[in-house]
Amino acid sequence: MNIKTNISLQALNTLALPGSAEFFVRVHSNDELAEALAYAHNHKLKVTVLGGGSNVVLASDISGLVIQMATRGIARSEQDGNSKVLHWTAAAGESWHQFVQHTLAEKSYGLENLSLIPGLVGAAPIQNIGAYGVEICDRFVSLQALEISTGKAVHFSKSDCQFGYRESVFKQSAAGQFVVTSVTLALSEQLNVNISYPALTAALSATSQISPQQVSEVVCRIRQQKLPDPAVQPNAGSFFKNPVISKDRWQQLRGKHPQLPGYPQLDGVKLPAAWLIDQAGWKGTAGQGCGVHREHALVLVNCGACSGGQLMDLAEDIIVDIERRFGILLAIEPQVLGVSTPP
Ligand code: EPU
Repeated sequence: MNIKTNISLQALNTLALPGSAEFFVRVHSNDELAEALAYAHNHKLKVTVLGGGSNVVLASDISGLVIQMATRGIARSEQDGNSKVLHWTAAAGESWHQFVQHTLAEKSYGLENLSLIPGLVGAAPIQNIGAYGVEICDRFVSLQALEISTGKAVHFSKSDCQFGYRESVFKQSAAGQFVVTSVTLALSEQLNVNISYPALTAALSATSQISPQQVSEVVCRIRQQKLPDPAVQPNAGSFFKNPVISKDRWQQLRGKHPQLPGYPQLDGVKLPAAWLIDQAGWKGTAGQGCGVHREHALVLVNCGACSGGQLMDLAEDIIVDIERRFGILLAIEPQVLGVSTPP
């Protein structure tokens, strides 16, 4: 195990925000991870876990030990007694998209709608990644984690994870307490596809006998058209969650804004935050080294030289403006690392 000091994290977060780790280690096995946790425990260092850095805002330098997951391994695991259901387990350090592509190549279907989501497998359940009508919780079986304070291995079932929209127990009561080491999902060898998301329905309406591979290709194409490539324009995908409001409140708002879209949910109506930000005129604006992407109002971009503080200031200005205009309080989607006053 090679613990380094004062390591820049700028190349390790897709927003390319400056900031360094007081101590840093990249772990390639669960044994190395356990060793790193023991080191942090013995030296009383706070632990911060980094995956692909694609859903974090580096608000400042990080004190303590930053652990980057680099564990590998994908395997078909035990089966349910039901040969149509295929269980797949991937190590936390695997690239999510490569895992999706691997399962598709092995004729295991169910993750095609989640193609091209940046980041690593271990981070996927933390925020219950979702796109184009599917969330990871729809395919989830269980995960393995190490408890940070003790290094003990812990198993989490689907119900233990308390999944919600971009939510899980790991962002709530268990925040900062565990490192996910592997994730097990249930896929299918049947060719059923879900193209209910309007953009997919539109793109595939003329195609008969749609295959999961075709869905994956279309999802990749839509994402590439709408979302900036972090290598070209640093970003962390959606910066705000889509708010869910009551049906009454939605109807009230629709009275004032007849074009306001809304997607019915079990607990109310989900609004596209992008629409609110777009209507408020933020799309394509820039200042202080960062701005709002010109193709998608939900994506904040680092235009070259902004700090985490400047990005959070922009987020706060947007939140205040949207609340003033629509009476809706937006919540930030990525995890804020380091010291910041969250808006
Ligand atoms: N819209 C605008 N202006 C824009 C962009 C979108 O008004 O600039 C409106 C349109 O009405 C559009 C609606 O917003 O129909 C929804 O847009 P989109 O289909 O792009 O989806 P989204 O709600 O903005 C969510 C996820 C994305 C995911 C897509 C597709 C969240 C926070 N974001 O975005 O996830 O890829 O749906 O399912 O739920 C991510 O989490 O980083 C992410 C990219």
